[in-house]
Amino acid sequence: MTYSDEARARLDKDAQRILARYPMKRSAILPLLHLVQSEEGFVSPDGIAFCAETLDVGTAEVSAVATFYTQLRRRPAGEYHVGVCTNTLCALMGGDAIWEALRDHVGVDHHGTTRDGKITLERLECNAACDYAPVVMVNWEYFDNQTPESVKELVDDLRAGKDVTPTRGADKVCTFKEVSRILAGFGDGRANEGPSAGPASLAGLETDGGRKGAAS
Ligand code: FES
Repeated sequence: MTYSDEARARLDKDAQRILARYPMKRSAILPLLHLVQSEEGFVSPDGIAFCAETLDVGTAEVSAVATFYTQLRRRPAGEYHVGVCTNTLCALMGGDAIWEALRDHVGVDHHGTTRDGKITLERLECNAACDYAPVVMVNWEYFDNQTPESVKELVDDLRAGKDVTPTRGADKVCTFKEVSRILAGFGDGRANEGPSAGPASLAGLETDGGRKGAAS
């Protein structure tokens, strides 16, 4: 492995904290993968080897899990993962137009990364936020009801190092490495920031008075 002694010591310490949450070592495989992703910004061969060694399983087993989940990246990528939903509803509501405008604006295609290392683009499947279509996600934070112009401004702000606020969720988008550490189970104390469900999500309850009380 090519981790520095300092990085390896830090990963070992964090890994032990993760393992302590589970009755069986192998149950910790997903948070461990997010942990190694938080170190390098992707799941590298070193990350796979670290997880396998920590869990006492083979590297093939760790790789099988790492390649299954799209939130785990297998190659170096940008500081901000910008996903444009082009699934049916978002596509019809403008997602395809957003994708084309953004791709042309930053000059990279699906899974491409800008030369400054800031932005990686990806066409996403449904993000379960259809009521706010068309939806864009930055490091898994929601940006609702987007337009080609709003998304171009969004990536320009990210590349300029400005603070960017999602429509829902945390008050500020953090980097992909920081998000990966949160997904490994090391919270940043900001879980309750910002709005979660909004009027579009609650519209069904508002119109179904009979069930409104039961759901509240
Ligand atoms: S189709 Fe885009 S969030 Fe569901």
